[in-house]
Amino acid sequence: MLKSPSSKYQRFDPVSLPNRRWPSQTISAAPIWCSVDLRDGNQALAVPMNVSQKLDMFDALVKCGFKEIEVGFPSASNTEFAFNRRLIEEGRIPDDVTIQCLVQAREDLIEKTVESLIGAKKVVIHMYNSTSPAQRKYVFGKTKEEIIAVAVKGAQMIKDRLHRLTAGGTHVTLQYSPESFSATEVEFAKEISEAVMDVWQPTPEHKMILNLPDTVEVCMPNVYADQIEWICTNIKNRESLIVSLHTHNDRGTGTAATELGLLAGADRVEGTLFGNGERTGNLDIVQVAMNLYMHGINPKLDFSDMNGLIAMYERTTGMTVPPRQPYAGELVFTAFSGSHQDAIKKGLSGYDQHKTIWDVPYLTIDPNDIGREYREVIRVNSQSGKGGVAYLLESEFGIELPKDMQREFGPLANDIVDKLGREVSGAELKEMFWKEYIERSTPYSLHHFHADGVDGVFTCRCSLVINGQERGIAGKGNGPIAAFAHALVSEGGAPSFEVATYREQSLSSGTEASALAFIQIKNGEGKTIWGAGVDTNIELASIKAVLSAVNRASH
Ligand code: KIV
Ligand code: ZN
Repeated sequence: MLKSPSSKYQRFDPVSLPNRRWPSQTISAAPIWCSVDLRDGNQALAVPMNVSQKLDMFDALVKCGFKEIEVGFPSASNTEFAFNRRLIEEGRIPDDVTIQCLVQAREDLIEKTVESLIGAKKVVIHMYNSTSPAQRKYVFGKTKEEIIAVAVKGAQMIKDRLHRLTAGGTHVTLQYSPESFSATEVEFAKEISEAVMDVWQPTPEHKMILNLPDTVEVCMPNVYADQIEWICTNIKNRESLIVSLHTHNDRGTGTAATELGLLAGADRVEGTLFGNGERTGNLDIVQVAMNLYMHGINPKLDFSDMNGLIAMYERTTGMTVPPRQPYAGELVFTAFSGSHQDAIKKGLSGYDQHKTIWDVPYLTIDPNDIGREYREVIRVNSQSGKGGVAYLLESEFGIELPKDMQREFGPLANDIVDKLGREVSGAELKEMFWKEYIERSTPYSLHHFHADGVDGVFTCRCSLVINGQERGIAGKGNGPIAAFAHALVSEGGAPSFEVATYREQSLSSGTEASALAFIQIKNGEGKTIWGAGVDTNIELASIKAVLSAVNRASH
């Protein structure tokens, strides 16, 4: 890279808009959406979609609620043309959906485009030509006047052919894009757009769409917003226009540019699912729609089945959705850090109790709203704390560790995960828990246990395997656990201890119901240690829990 980039790259000249109004506006309703997946998205694929893939995606876009869909560039290839014909001839376009086709300002291409649309109910014919200084100079070698003449001629050619569609009852809306608008002088963008308007003569009743593309994202989103507000304020007959945004993501701010463009007065947004499109992609429409949703605004698009949509997208485009893609990525409702997990766990249980306004820390929306599940929220790696460990054991296996035991087991599990150097599943955590507590069998393991109580005094007789040798021991106490503890210390050779905490719960897996007991013992030095035991009999589960704690204490 250059030490002095200004020798090669220049600052972007902003529009002069001292009284800009957009910073104090808010977005309170969804814009008109237009999906350009089947055109801009498709043209950016190494292997463009075939007709059946395009049909698959078209149906999914309709299902999401898109009412305007740019279906292709029918003059560009037989596949594109054939796709339009399939849609129209097989009656696949719902009555409330408008299909849009892109075309350059060239007679043969316009002719073919019109032909591809015959018989459709509602169409947008979208004409574009490039207007930026670099395009004028290098690509076309034309003056501003000559570039305007191209647009005007194209607009006239379209107008002259409209009767071929309207005669058959097709409702046609016209759209013009001064391509590379954001890199074009606003005065020139206005001039050329007004020249096209002069030909098409839009009215407030029959508006035309003026699409203002950030073809290559060359400026900051606030500058794009200034450009949009400047056009909305200065162009003639604004009331006869639907002002549309079409952003790309070269500087990584396509979403911001679109949102600020809406503040600046635009009515419509073009973009693609998950931002597929040329280079760094088009605007990700899912992001803008979900951003509205998380502010309580109905986006008029439905992403309830986000996983199904992703599967369709990957199947048809061959692209993948990155794990951190806002709203859609595999990891976006996942917290690895312990403090985040703890906060999410508390927030989720608070929300479950009150079911009012969503304010769960670290989660902008309820994953459930887009078909994701809470259990995906928390995963455990070496960054995780006791909260994540406890959450997975509880949510996946119903194991409710006592709070204090979480403090003991959390760091033990964390050490193992740290050594593994990878994420672990809930099942692996359960296995760790079982190994640490339930499967402890040295120095003591239980063979047989029996306790009887008379007048509140319990006597227990049991046989244990102690360091490999079978032995019978007996003891008394005010309950079976106390009697067993007494037997262990007085006859079994265990160091003295007392039971500090006891908790039990039922566990059911499949048809087998069993009990899980947790016991915390305190040794002679006041140190506490947890144990756990499982059995179909709750009394035996608690006796095993005592042995688990004593065994752990002796290691
Ligand atoms: O990015 C762009 O400018 C386009 C136009 C054809 C609208 O895709
Ligand atoms: Zn584009």
